[in-house]
Amino acid sequence: MKIPEKGKFSPAPSFRLGAFERKEIWGNLNPLVIEIGSGQGEQIAFASKRFKNLDFLALEVFPQGIAHTIRRLKALGVENARILQADAFSFFSTALPAGSVFEVWTFFPDPWPKTKHHKRRLISSAFASLVALALCSGGRWRIATDDSDYALQIHEVLDSAPEFKNMGSVYNELALLHVGKGNRHLQASAPKGKFLQAERFEGRTLTSFEKKGIEAGRKIYDFDYKKI
Ligand SMILES: C[S@@+](CC[C@H](N)C(=O)[O-])C[C@H]1O[C@@H](n2cnc3c(N)ncnc32)[C@H](O)[C@@H]1O
Repeated sequence: MKIPEKGKFSPAPSFRLGAFERKEIWGNLNPLVIEIGSGQGEQIAFASKRFKNLDFLALEVFPQGIAHTIRRLKALGVENARILQADAFSFFSTALPAGSVFEVWTFFPDPWPKTKHHKRRLISSAFASLVALALCSGGRWRIATDDSDYALQIHEVLDSAPEFKNMGSVYNELALLHVGKGNRHLQASAPKGKFLQAERFEGRTLTSFEKKGIEAGRKIYDFDYKKI
C-alpha cells in the first residue's frame, strides 16, 4: 500500500465529532463504534445490519475501498453507518472528544512485513494513547491480525499500557523475536511466550482479506482490550 502523504487525509484541525455533529450525521446519540481500515466494507456492512442500536463510522484512506463500501451500505439500506476518507492517526489526534467512543475495531491492519517498515504499523504506543483517550470507560478496542510478528507487537504495546486491560480468555504461543519478510524462519527456533488472546469476536465477519490469510495457512490472532 502507498502511504498517504502527510496531512492528506487529515480532518480540519477545528473539526470535532461532538454530540451536535453526531445528531446531525446519525440523527441520534447511540453508542459509536469506529472501524479503522474498513477495506471493502464487509465488516461495517455486516455489523451495521446486525447491531441496529449502535452507530458506526468507518475510517479508510483507499478510494476504491470506500466506493465499494458505499455501494454495499446502500444496497443493504442501513442507516446507522457512515464512512469517512480519513487517516485514523490524524482523526484520533484531533476529531474525537474524550470518552466519546464505545468501541474501536481494527481488523487486519496493514502488517508492513518488512522489518524496516515495522515502524509504519498503526498500532503503536502513541496511537494506543489516542484510542484510550477517545474510548469511554469500559469501552473496547477489538483487534485482529494474521501476522504473528504484528501480534507480538500488539502485546508489547497494549499489555503494558496502563489505560487498557487485556480481556482475553485463551492462551496462544508466539515467538519472542521480531522478524521480517526475509527471516520469518527464525521464529521456529526462537524462545516462545504465552499470551492472553480473545476468542473470535462474534460480531466480526469473515472478510475476503481474512479468508486469503486462512487459505495461505496463517493463524488468526484476536484481541480484546478494555479501557480502564
Ligand atoms: C489489510 S487491509 C484490511 C481491511 C479490512 N479490515 C478487512 O479485514 O478486510 C487494511 C486497510 O486499512 C486501511 N488503512 C491503512 N492505514 C490506514 C489509516 N492510517 N487510516 C485509515 N485506514 C487505513 C488500508 O487502506 C486497508 O484498506
